[in-house]
Amino acid sequence: MHATRTQAVPGVGPCPSDVMIVGEAPGFNEDRQGEPFVGAAGKLLDTLLARISLSRADVYITNVLKCRPPMNRDPMPNEVESCSPYLKEQLALVKPKVVLILGRHALERLMPGQGSISRIHGTLIKRGELAYVPLYHPAAALHNGSLVADLEHDFDQLRRYLDQLLAPPPPPVPVAVPKQESEQLRLL
Ligand code: URA
Repeated sequence: MHATRTQAVPGVGPCPSDVMIVGEAPGFNEDRQGEPFVGAAGKLLDTLLARISLSRADVYITNVLKCRPPMNRDPMPNEVESCSPYLKEQLALVKPKVVLILGRHALERLMPGQGSISRIHGTLIKRGELAYVPLYHPAAALHNGSLVADLEHDFDQLRRYLDQLLAPPPPPVPVAVPKQESEQLRLL
């Protein structure tokens, strides 16, 4: 794909970051600007993030493919394979606590065999230290308006997941020293 792309689109955002978003592949605008999700789907993503008080500055955003497939066709298995070491390395460097999986291609890459996006969107799936939340791809909602309400509902749910998962640990409970013992310590 390097032959047909304008430039690679690796990803943007803070590193490390608690939240990482993984989409499918750069489109026309992303290929031109070198940044993921800057076209129409990106505008919808920004609106959904703002809905739950997040902005691009709070999340690391990338795609399964780092180059635009010609004519925006679906990623091919060998392309997904070739880009997969980059995604793996990004996960290792960004160290997210929560990964938002946008659409079926990212779902198939990150959670193969997990089922269809229409069945599991909006659910929290824990795998060891990492939590995944599959969501409809914003571009799918631009084609099928009825998915916008699902995305809004899932983002509201996501806010609640993040509040739980990213809450600071409670302060340590002070250990009460038995009185007699503390008296003895004072005398020493
Ligand atoms: N769709 C994606 O999956 N990624 C982008 O970066 C833009 C649109």
